[in-house]
Amino acid sequence: MANKSLASAKDAKNDEFYTELNEIQSELSNYTNKFEGKVVFCNCDDPFESNFVKYFLMNFNRFKLKELIATGYKTSPIAGKEIAVVNIPYVLRVTDTTKYLVGTQKDLDIRGAIYFLKTEGSNIMTPLFGNKFIDENKQEIYYEAGDFRSDMCIELLKESDIVCTNPPFSLFREYIAQLIQYKKQFLIIGNKNAATYKDFFSLLKNNQVWFGYNSPTSFILPDGTHTKKVTGLTRWFTNIDHIKRHQMLPLDLGCTYENYKEQYPMYDNYSAIEVNKVQKIPCDYKGVMGVPPTFFDKYCPEQFEILGKTKLLDWANSKDCDFFTPPPKELQEYYKSLDKTWRVQNAYILVDGKPLDVFDRIFIKFTNSYIKSHPEQFNKGDC
Ligand SMILES: C[S@@+](CC[C@H](N)C(=O)[O-])C[C@H]1O[C@@H](n2cnc3c(N)ncnc32)[C@H](O)[C@@H]1O
Repeated sequence: MANKSLASAKDAKNDEFYTELNEIQSELSNYTNKFEGKVVFCNCDDPFESNFVKYFLMNFNRFKLKELIATGYKTSPIAGKEIAVVNIPYVLRVTDTTKYLVGTQKDLDIRGAIYFLKTEGSNIMTPLFGNKFIDENKQEIYYEAGDFRSDMCIELLKESDIVCTNPPFSLFREYIAQLIQYKKQFLIIGNKNAATYKDFFSLLKNNQVWFGYNSPTSFILPDGTHTKKVTGLTRWFTNIDHIKRHQMLPLDLGCTYENYKEQYPMYDNYSAIEVNKVQKIPCDYKGVMGVPPTFFDKYCPEQFEILGKTKLLDWANSKDCDFFTPPPKELQEYYKSLDKTWRVQNAYILVDGKPLDVFDRIFIKFTNSYIKSHPEQFNKGDC
């Protein structure tokens, strides 16, 4: 069957993209020592179908897991596809896989994991139920069985230490807010654009969430076909510490603000200089710099501070960017007359007196401790 592009599949009902086992393997291999004695919860994962469940079954002993919990969602279109079960969501709780190991095996292989689910699974699973919920507007909502917001799933969340899954993209904000509310560790897949959503950006800025290692390139669709390989649309996000996050961005020491000021124009509405490529971050600039969002991949909190971003929908109320200085009203109107797409909160530089919008920018600066410990970089200039 033909591959479908991830972008066109974006509209697929309920964001049904299933994660490939190899994508899970290549990300989680960076955290193997983080799971000892932990309860892992996969809360958007039909226990029979999810590769997350299979992955943890296959690494249960190596990771020294205390327990694996997985819950499926009632309306999932893949429920019962791979392994036939009655189509109601279940919670699977696994505390031991040893009975299913063969010979010298320390952990199950993929066949063993499927066999485990087929034979043991149906004995140890219990059904999930939905419940009513009254929201802040006093509206009654019904959470289907297996909904991560339902009472039963929240109770399971409370029991768990690390949540690991690929949640529905359309509920990403709610999903991450819940993980933060319950102070859980997590390793999850999300849309890369989430990094620029206001709430999520604040979490990144405050070092409550960071990028994982990889960007999954392909997913499985409900009909079993795979999306085309596309890089950069999705991302692993986590709040579990990892080595890459502490690796400082190697700077080009020849790339100085002192010698190349003309390449780093100051924005007209932000007190920051424009740096159009992460590789071009000047190694000697102590002030605020506007860099492309690809910076998140290179972000090391010991080296840089994140201060804010452009295009905040409610920039006027936001404290994310308090060095933002909107131009006078008349100038705003003039710029708008030159270009209707011009927005006051876009970062722009003036070229021949006309504003030139730049793309989304993240505002960063070197941390004070980095500046102090690298006097050879910062001992010149007035920046
Ligand atoms: C992007 S898919 C990923 C599935 C699986 N975690 C994986 O990685 O293969 C998201 C899954 O969440 C389920 N889902 C949708 N809304 C949900 C909700 N409110 N609570 C729990 N699961 C939900 C969907 O049915 C779907 O199976």
